[in-house]
Amino acid sequence: MSDTDLDTTARTILTENDQGGYTIPTKGLYPYQWNWDSVFVALGFATFDQDRAWREIEMLFEGQWRDGMVPHILFRKDDPSYFPGPSVWGTDGGPLPSSGHSQPPVAASVIRDLVDTDPSGSALERAAALLPGLMQWHRWFLSYRDPKSQGVLAVIHPWESGRDNLPDWDDALRAVEVKDIEPYERKDTSHVDPAMRPHKEDYDRYLSIMSACRNVDWDPAKVAKTCPFFVADPGITFIFLRANRDLLNLAERLGKTEEVAEIQNWIARMETGAKTLWHDELKAHVAVDQRTGKMTNGISSASFLALYAGLADEHTISSLQAHFDRIASKVRYLMPSYDPDHESYEPLRYWRGPVWAMINYMIARGFAEAGDAVRAEKLRADTAALIETSGFAEYFSPETAEGAGGGTFSWTAAIWLTWASPSHVEKAA
Ligand code: DGY
Repeated sequence: MSDTDLDTTARTILTENDQGGYTIPTKGLYPYQWNWDSVFVALGFATFDQDRAWREIEMLFEGQWRDGMVPHILFRKDDPSYFPGPSVWGTDGGPLPSSGHSQPPVAASVIRDLVDTDPSGSALERAAALLPGLMQWHRWFLSYRDPKSQGVLAVIHPWESGRDNLPDWDDALRAVEVKDIEPYERKDTSHVDPAMRPHKEDYDRYLSIMSACRNVDWDPAKVAKTCPFFVADPGITFIFLRANRDLLNLAERLGKTEEVAEIQNWIARMETGAKTLWHDELKAHVAVDQRTGKMTNGISSASFLALYAGLADEHTISSLQAHFDRIASKVRYLMPSYDPDHESYEPLRYWRGPVWAMINYMIARGFAEAGDAVRAEKLRADTAALIETSGFAEYFSPETAEGAGGGTFSWTAAIWLTWASPSHVEKAA
């Protein structure tokens, strides 16, 4: 298929996964609105329908909880093809049925992009309407995912990180006692080859964490204190730090003086805290189990997001460039979600090795902003090659380009349209 045909297919995927203002990640496997999926999808819509792009994010915020959280899934209608559905979550925190935790907060960054690229200038008004919700959501993260004000965000569930079965969670997840779960039937493995999905031992614990949180009624302060899983995640920490910088830019443009001062404090707190995730021997940022203090020992694709977060001192840049080149010599397509030199690496199992287009997009932005256009372009070209070879898969083998997980995937289509497609690059030039 030519690149122009792929552009057309990508637009068709978004349109066909559109449920009337919000977009499902893919039919069958993920039949609801997912938080960060939707926000990346807005970037794709923005390449041909700005109004529709804003609708996507506005509809996500319609599900915001009273305490400020924006949930990771909004269950706008019941769909028996997905497990665990709304009755298993048992939440009551917001206006719509939803899951009970959040997901990486990319919204402020994407909203800033929508404002920056809006030819009419009217986007700033829509950003102004979303600003209070964004402020509340970011405050919620600081209160309940960084309760000791350490400047790093923890996740209370692997799903909150968006990177479900990452090897970084293995030890902390094994320590979760399997209890309070009813017999259950997974649905994901009837849509996708089980070899590309998490194991049953993982699912038992995913559900046990949900039960523990349900037992405290998803009260965020109690969850922060008692949840059996509480792991500081470089991915969500870096995405949040970046989002705060973009939120600051929006607040400044909107003349919101008090918010500006508040966000500046958040940025200072996160800049200091993020450094505590640095692993001296590995020379990269890693996850830290906040219940035990134990650091993980592997480099994930999120380690590269330090640059996206603006932590671009000489030492960090040169360490990440060296890791980048080492990994590039091991696999044909960057960036594997886990270090191919690590014993836990598996090229086709979800977050244990495969390449994800939207992570590549964020890593590349970080490299470009740090002045490294060559590595940024290698990521774009690899992402384009993966999609040209295997279409709009959920994720890809870094070794063979094989597409895996769900097909006709919305955020892969969106990232193609906004960044990876050669026709997009020509337009930008
Ligand atoms: C799933 O169901 O696998 C999702 O990743 C949870 O968000």
